[in-house]
Amino acid sequence: MNIPEAKLIPYRSPRYPETEARARGREFFDEMSSRRSVRLFSDEAVPRDLIELAIRTAATAPSGANRQPWRFVAVSDPETRRRIRVAAEEEERQSYEGGRMPPDWLEALRPLGTWWQKPFLEVAPWLVVVFEERHGVNADGSVRKNYYVRESVGIACGLFIAALHHIGLATLTHTPSPMGFLSEILGRPKNEAPYVLFPIGYPAAGCRVPDIAKKTLDEIAIWNPA
Ligand SMILES: Cc1cc2nc3c(=O)[nH]c(=O)nc-3n(C[C@H](O)[C@H](O)[C@H](O)COP(=O)(O)O)c2cc1C
Repeated sequence: MNIPEAKLIPYRSPRYPETEARARGREFFDEMSSRRSVRLFSDEAVPRDLIELAIRTAATAPSGANRQPWRFVAVSDPETRRRIRVAAEEEERQSYEGGRMPPDWLEALRPLGTWWQKPFLEVAPWLVVVFEERHGVNADGSVRKNYYVRESVGIACGLFIAALHHIGLATLTHTPSPMGFLSEILGRPKNEAPYVLFPIGYPAAGCRVPDIAKKTLDEIAIWNPA
C-alpha cells in the first residue's frame, strides 16, 4: 500500500530555555491547582464573549481523524435554564432517592455532599451543554463516521475547564443521569448525544467546596517500569 500524501505546512512549536520552561510549567501547575468544582454560584452576568473564548479554546483539542465531534450548546435564557433544572432534578431525585444509584456510589459521593437539588442550574448565568457527535451526516444524508468520539470530547472538555479557570470563571462538571432530556429541550439531532453539562459563572460570596485532596505524584506516576 502506498503511503498517502498529505498537504503539510511548516510548524514551529514554542521552545523555551530550560529555566523558563520550568517556571512556566510551575506557574501553570499552580494555576490549575487552584481550580475547584463549584456548586454555589452568584447570578452575576458573564459576557458572552468570555464563553466564546473558552469554547474556541476547547475546540483547539486534538480529535480522532480531526473529526472534531463536539457541539457546545450555550444557554443563558432563564426559561430554558429553568426547564433544564426541573428535568435534571427529576432524574437526579430518582437516582439519589429512588434507588437508581447503588449504595457504593452514594457512599462515594458522601464526602462531596451532593444531593438531587440543583439550584445552580438556574442561578449560574450560563449553561454550556457539550454534545458528542456520534457520527456526522453528509449532504446526501449518508453517515460520516467519527473516530474516538468519547476520548476526543473528553479532551476538549478538559481544555474548556482549563480555559474557564484561566479566564477567572467557575464551573462544575455535571452529569445528571440519564441526560436524554437535554437533547429534547435543546432540540439536538439524533446523531448527537449529551456528554456533560457545565454551569458557568462566578462563585457565590462565601462559596465553600469539599475538603478533598488530589493523589500524590507517587500514587499516579510510574517511571520506566522494568
Ligand atoms: C466526568 C465527571 C462527572 C461529574 N459529575 C458530577 C455531577 O454530576 N455532579 C457533581 O456535583 N459533580 C460532578 N463531578 C465533579 C466531581 O465530583 C469533582 O470533579 C471531584 O469531586 C473533584 O473535585 P474538583 O473538581 O473540585 O477538583 C463530575 C466530574 C467528572 C470528571
